[in-house]
Amino acid sequence: MRNYYIAGNWKMHKTRAEAAALAQALVAQLKDGKHKYLVAPSFTALETVAAIVKGSNILLGAQNMAAEEQGAHTGEVSVLQLKDLGVHTVILGHSERRHTYKEDDGLINKKVQLALQHGLEVILCVGELLSEREAGKAEAVCETQTVQGLAGVAAADFSRVTIAYEPVWAIGTGRTATPEDADAIHAYIRQVIARLYGADAAQQILIQYGGSVKPDNAAQLMAKENIDGALVGGAALKADTFVPIATFQ
Ligand code: PGA
Repeated sequence: MRNYYIAGNWKMHKTRAEAAALAQALVAQLKDGKHKYLVAPSFTALETVAAIVKGSNILLGAQNMAAEEQGAHTGEVSVLQLKDLGVHTVILGHSERRHTYKEDDGLINKKVQLALQHGLEVILCVGELLSEREAGKAEAVCETQTVQGLAGVAAADFSRVTIAYEPVWAIGTGRTATPEDADAIHAYIRQVIARLYGADAAQQILIQYGGSVKPDNAAQLMAKENIDGALVGGAALKADTFVPIATFQ
């Protein structure tokens, strides 16, 4: 039986004081929560939030990192710096990184490999554009992003990988994939994983859904056989909306 994994991606929101207030509320309200939890604040709030979630059941995540360990990379943040702050997991290949900042599968794969080499966990995001879905290419796009994103990842490291299926047309739009449509893609991704890492790995990997997850749709989504949690954006910015998702029944 797979556990559920609920992650909050705070994106480019919150000052340190605002991030601290939210982290404190989540630590208090999720202390009896039964699932795996993660919050991913902006880089600027990582140290603040790290001190608050330390010793709690909430893991600390970063939203991105550089593909190189260190060096002349103005404006980038390295895996060494994230580890120094107590980061446990890094979200890679988010659709905003892919589409707004033009990150391709090759770059994302370098980041995935580097994060795993350094002992971090990875949430690898995959998902199709609306035009790709309408052209019947949703499965193919997710397959390519999964296969290329995981290229060179050893079976031994694969246990630290979570996939987040986030259809781009559902992110921040209020439009959610139906539980059936999402489950179908999750099942497809599981088949791709089975081909790459074997049937056991495919059964064990957690596949989150992301894209307008809210308190009123979380339970229906996560009731589906292949949906093992959520990567939450907008609704992760307030305890009032994140806690009901994180403690869904
Ligand atoms: P959303 O974002 O919940 O605001 O749609 C999800 C995400 O981008 O991870």
